[in-house]
Amino acid sequence: MATPYVLGIGGSTRLGSSTELVVRGVLAHASDSGCQTEMFAGPDLVLAPYEPGRELDPAAAKLVAAFRRADAIVIGSPGYHGSISGLVKNALDYTEALRTDERVYFDGLAVGCVATAFGWQGAVNTLSTLRQITHALRGWPTPLGIALNTSDKSLFEGGQVVDAAVLESMSMMADQLKTFAQRRQLQQA
Ligand SMILES: Cc1cc2nc3c(=O)[nH]c(=O)nc-3n(C[C@H](O)[C@H](O)[C@H](O)COP(=O)(O)O)c2cc1C
Repeated sequence: MATPYVLGIGGSTRLGSSTELVVRGVLAHASDSGCQTEMFAGPDLVLAPYEPGRELDPAAAKLVAAFRRADAIVIGSPGYHGSISGLVKNALDYTEALRTDERVYFDGLAVGCVATAFGWQGAVNTLSTLRQITHALRGWPTPLGIALNTSDKSLFEGGQVVDAAVLESMSMMADQLKTFAQRRQLQQA
């Protein structure tokens, strides 16, 4: 069976983005369990506003190639004004390039959704929006989503997640992504 390729996208352009840390943490667990991983973090997602029909510039083409290659995806967004950030939404709009592919959008892929915000309302709304977008893209949100209230400063230390419950969630999400990706690979073999 081929090594599953797990793509992480998201975070903000803020140095030390907490959302990026969590997505990277999920990828690290996936990598430890034998997956291949790649992260497109905040600055990699600074792309021209998506425009239907316009030729992709090199940065957008790189992201689209990663979307096409992915066996599983982790998407992380901070909550901005009650929903996902424009940066992450714009990056996801580039999935439109996959609309006429044999595998349309994220069809059949497990998608782990991660949301952080400075309060529970923003975090949970943002997680819910990411899961709805995943459905719109024909993906399968993992049973476990991660919503974090980053007003709790004890979650992170020295640029790492240190909270035991969050660490466990990251590991569990990575397991769910890998298991689903491998089941899909078996079905297609
Ligand atoms: C433009 C902007 C809008 C925000 N809106 C909300 C919000 O509506 N609700 C909330 O709880 N936090 C809000 N926040 C706080 C961020 O969601 C929170 O600090 C998040 O963890 C930042 O993620 P990052 O560390 O990855 O940049 C906002 C932050 C910014 C910069």
